[in-house]
Amino acid sequence: MYIYKEKDYAGVSRRAANILSAQIISKPDSILGLATGSSPIGAYKQLVESYQNGDLDFTKVRSFNLDEYRGLADDNSNSYHFFMNQNLFAHINMKPENVHLPNGMAEDIEKECSDYDELIQELGGIDIQLLGLGHNGHIGFNEPDEAFITGTHLVKLTQKTIEANSRLFSRLEDVPREALTMGIKSIMLSKRILIIVSGEDKAEAVKNMLLGPVTPKVPASILQLHPNVILVADEDALKYIPANF
Ligand code: GLP
Repeated sequence: MYIYKEKDYAGVSRRAANILSAQIISKPDSILGLATGSSPIGAYKQLVESYQNGDLDFTKVRSFNLDEYRGLADDNSNSYHFFMNQNLFAHINMKPENVHLPNGMAEDIEKECSDYDELIQELGGIDIQLLGLGHNGHIGFNEPDEAFITGTHLVKLTQKTIEANSRLFSRLEDVPREALTMGIKSIMLSKRILIIVSGEDKAEAVKNMLLGPVTPKVPASILQLHPNVILVADEDALKYIPANF
């Protein structure tokens, strides 16, 4: 794992956007795995600026998002579809047919999940998967569990995640209790993983991810076993990680 230690969130965003830009420039038909949450917003902003400056072209890029709430339609302002349109897709030249998110409204959830994983592999697999990190060590919506769940699947959100994500909803009751998420296997099959973390409130999760045992109780700890991971984090998030790590 390669670690970039940045001063603050702005530094994390800049570094992450530069890594994603390098990927797109060196392989214009890249398959990107994308994430939601507050962590990637700054990086998406820089990608939009680079597109507007003429430095990036997304016409051949394809994307697969990590997760989506169950029961929220694309145009619901709390859905991850909506988030992605607002923060990235509406401002760049990606073709709509090249954008993929799990369909939270699908009736046959099992089919939706297996089709999602199959399509990723059919197209050649994800070149770089962007990840945020949950306070309890979750990645995507892979919550702490007794076993690593493999492919894309339906998950019940923990109370901690519901509460953390409620800041984006008007009321706690409005946060969906379930979501579709890429599983640990779907994530681990990505050729490269870029995980971005900012803030002291994530320091414990970073410590558990890097220094703790590989365990499904800390889903992100599995990244210790991936051969090509880049962690971009700020000083606050890295406060428990020794400088020589
Ligand atoms: C959510 C998302 C994750 C995200 C995590 C951290 O639950 N499903 O993909 O990485 O929370 O979010 P944030 O970046 O807002 O701290």
